[in-house]
Amino acid sequence: MKNQLLDILKKAQKKGFAIPQFNFCTIAQLKGIIRAAKRLRYPFILGTSEGESRYLGFNLAVEIKRVVERELGLKVFLNLDHGRSFEYLKRAIDAGYQMVHFDGSELKIEKNIAITRKVVAYGKKRGVVVEGELGYIPGSSKIHKETLKIKPENMTKPEQVRRFIKETGVDALAIAIGNAHGIFPKGSFNLDLKRLSMIKREVGERVFLVLHGGSGIPSKQIKEAIKRGIVKINVNTEIRQAWRSGIERGFDTNPGEITPYKVMSGAVEKIEKVVEKKMKLFYSNKY
Ligand code: 13P
Repeated sequence: MKNQLLDILKKAQKKGFAIPQFNFCTIAQLKGIIRAAKRLRYPFILGTSEGESRYLGFNLAVEIKRVVERELGLKVFLNLDHGRSFEYLKRAIDAGYQMVHFDGSELKIEKNIAITRKVVAYGKKRGVVVEGELGYIPGSSKIHKETLKIKPENMTKPEQVRRFIKETGVDALAIAIGNAHGIFPKGSFNLDLKRLSMIKREVGERVFLVLHGGSGIPSKQIKEAIKRGIVKINVNTEIRQAWRSGIERGFDTNPGEITPYKVMSGAVEKIEKVVEKKMKLFYSNKY
């Protein structure tokens, strides 16, 4: 079974754009994403972390993705982001996810390879795109007060990448090059672009390189990362932040309001703006 996401990722490699993954767990987030996508008409991936998918339930997430796709008349893909075990990802695949990401970054490389390979064997038979992870990406999708400190030893080692993709057979690979989950104080991000180029030289076109932590990284660095081979970028925190500030504004302007859609409209608008900005940046009209 052929997964159309592979064709879009290949096109991204050839033309030099990146496909966004937007994480979600609420209708307000989805509505913001849909409104932006309706205008721009770029393909995208919907992501749910383990926590987001537990909150929604696999079946609801899968059905939501189908509805979004129908509503937009666009290809949309659903990824289980940062799955920590084979069993959890197997359940996501069985439920109908088109992509899964196994995050074995805290494991020893041998164990990471062994589980990733198992996910690949299960996923490929079912036409599911599998993302692995090598190197440790710090942080979580929230607003961090402290400055980001990256330990060089946690970054992806270019000399390990070829072995990892050969022994696992992954389609996509999340790498650690100074990126982190969450928004950090200004000046925190300084992507190691030389390392990215070294990794790209190691893998060529054999794997799709993924940048996690798409929130808060300056646009100039994002553009350079895409130029050097990143073809998928995950975004969560900026959407969460827009959701929160939109709802706060809704309650501030009408403290007695209890009708959800009346409070939510500000959040939807703010999320739409974030999604639009990211889509324009990642695609730069190259699709
Ligand atoms: P941010 O929360 O920093 O946008 O990162 C999201 C992410 O990488 C999800 O996998």
